[in-house]
Amino acid sequence: MNEFERVGVDARHSPPGATIDPETSLGWLRRLRPVILEHRRALIVGVVAGLIALIAQVSVPAVARSAIDATREGSSGQLTTLVIVLVTLGLARFALGAAYRYALFEVAWGVETDLRALLYDHLTTLSFSYYDRTQSGEVISRANSDIRSIQVLLAFGPLILMSTIAFAIAFGFMLTIHVKLALVALCTLPFVYLFGQQLRLTVFPLTWVGQARMAELATIVDESVNGTRVVKSFAAEERQLNLLARSADHLRWVNNEAFRARSTWNPFIEALPRIGSAIVLLYGGLLAIDGQVTVGTLFAFNAYVVMLQAPFRMFGFLLLQSQRANAAATRVYAVLDEPAEIADAPNAPPMTRPQGVIRFDDVHFTYPGSAQKPTDADTNFNGHDSDARPAVLNGLTMSINAGETIAIVGRTGSGKSTIARLLARFYEADSGTISIDGHQVTDVTVASLRHYIGLVFDEPFLFSTSVYDNIAYGVPNASRVEVERAARAAQAHDFIMDLDDGYATVVGERGYTLSGGQRQRIAIARTLVENPAILILDDATSAIDVTVEEAIHHALDDLLASRTTILIAHRLSTIALADRVLLIEDGVVAAQGTHHELMATESRYVQILAETSDPPPAGSTNPDHPNPDRTNPDHTNPDHTNPDHTDPDHTDGDRS
Ligand SMILES: Nc1ncnc2c1ncn2[C@@H]1O[C@H](COP(=O)(O)OP(=O)(O)OP(=O)(O)O)[C@@H](O)[C@H]1O
Ligand SMILES: [Mg+2]
Repeated sequence: MNEFERVGVDARHSPPGATIDPETSLGWLRRLRPVILEHRRALIVGVVAGLIALIAQVSVPAVARSAIDATREGSSGQLTTLVIVLVTLGLARFALGAAYRYALFEVAWGVETDLRALLYDHLTTLSFSYYDRTQSGEVISRANSDIRSIQVLLAFGPLILMSTIAFAIAFGFMLTIHVKLALVALCTLPFVYLFGQQLRLTVFPLTWVGQARMAELATIVDESVNGTRVVKSFAAEERQLNLLARSADHLRWVNNEAFRARSTWNPFIEALPRIGSAIVLLYGGLLAIDGQVTVGTLFAFNAYVVMLQAPFRMFGFLLLQSQRANAAATRVYAVLDEPAEIADAPNAPPMTRPQGVIRFDDVHFTYPGSAQKPTDADTNFNGHDSDARPAVLNGLTMSINAGETIAIVGRTGSGKSTIARLLARFYEADSGTISIDGHQVTDVTVASLRHYIGLVFDEPFLFSTSVYDNIAYGVPNASRVEVERAARAAQAHDFIMDLDDGYATVVGERGYTLSGGQRQRIAIARTLVENPAILILDDATSAIDVTVEEAIHHALDDLLASRTTILIAHRLSTIALADRVLLIEDGVVAAQGTHHELMATESRYVQILAETSDPPPAGSTNPDHPNPDRTNPDHTNPDHTNPDHTDPDHTDGDRS
């Protein structure tokens, strides 16, 4: 149990040396230039080796021509020399061919890796609002197939361009020998291009659709796997299967159509070199009979006809692939150009450990955008849409003292979690100021701000590593003692020790091998390890027994006296732990005071508690009931609170 291994806590990633050109008006390849130039050495090696290899390749028929003609003249010495030259050319082509492929692919894979790293780096800077409106499948397909399209172009593009140069050289050579025969030899090439163009016209839109269908399928698979518990609980496997099958069928249709177009046009394209050969043999043969050209020339031209089809065909592929890469780059750049809305102000200092005085001053906030997929017409539409959205916070003003424990109470959807998100600067307030110890949250670095704010959500996300690594997530170099102390404070130590491997137990994906309450306690421990100056528990104890929750709050008191705590809760027993209660309604603090005061004076408070907690708290202000939770046979139901349980005094006694 002691020999656990820490998993994946050391940062090994060193970001690429360059990023894409930020100037959005440039072409995509131009914008990629800095990233490509990071690999300039391999690029130069590849291009030089490739050029030499291609020149060697196009020289072969020319040398062979001389060799064949040498046999006619009966010059065996010349023949031997020419054969040695041929062998040398072959060897050079072999060695350099390997070198340029290796170098060019090194560039292409290098750029692919860099782009992926850049994309991921940038994704980590994007704010919640970006993720609110983006589907995971989209991001996955951008990081995978889109970047792959760019890589393919980078690997083959230089190659094809170089063979085009070789083509020009060969054609020039042919012209010097026999102009007419050279032109006749090339007469099929326009058709190669035309048929290729037909093919591309059909295939290109299809591959485009295919990419979108891939992304759609990825989203469905992602949701089916991650949402499998919901799917199963509704016995909706059939429906999910149908969704998946329909999406897979769409993809099949696209791929089928694309392949049908290929099978229609490719035989034509493949037949063309043979037709070209036949024409060269016929016309060239007649010329040879006439004595105008040699047999060697005939041979060389025939070889060129076949050789020259390749760049022509590949040139079509290059056009197609560059369109595809262009589209892919547009999508990848759209992510990279997405501004990181929440970024450090220039020269923002890091926050030092605050006392925990929190002030919201006339804060207005409306969630940006809409949850739909961004489209081309998005900017306008969104602008319009957010106008239509109801404001969540409407001039909220509140202040919380250092070390105070505050409960925020309000109807569901009233903006309680939003307050926490704004404080941690997951979203930017539209107007008004939010400050901690007098420093506006926008004036300090985001990382330091979030370091001092410990936020625990109700649905904690655990990583599929050991319990230990999950707790030490925020402070990877935390000592065993610190981790255990946090776990004890979160009342998690005992059940962790009961797990098969104790702290080394690896939890299932998202922690699903643990109960909801256990997950919540690990999440609390994870936040406590950071020893935050401000602790926000957003419904974070909803799945934990009332008695255990109380124990957690006791432990919190011991762990650090000077901590500001914000409890967002529906449960009366939780609310009762607070020094003061803020009632949020219509985006403002509608009332505040101790639970008692509010119960006595605020009918809205009584009403909201009645709506949000069970059972209604009518007559709940009986101060004579010392510790009702333990006498309540139903206390294991976290939401079930006896009317008599709501007296905050009983906890005060325990806590001091
Ligand atoms: N990411 C988001 N994008 C758009 N609107 C949101 C987003 N999150 C919340 N909202 C909306 O903002 C309002 C306030 O949400 P918030 O999560 O703050 O409520 P809450 O008081 O925490 O509710 P609950 O008690 O149910 O947790 C709700 O109307 C909600 O629909
Ligand atoms: Mg909430």
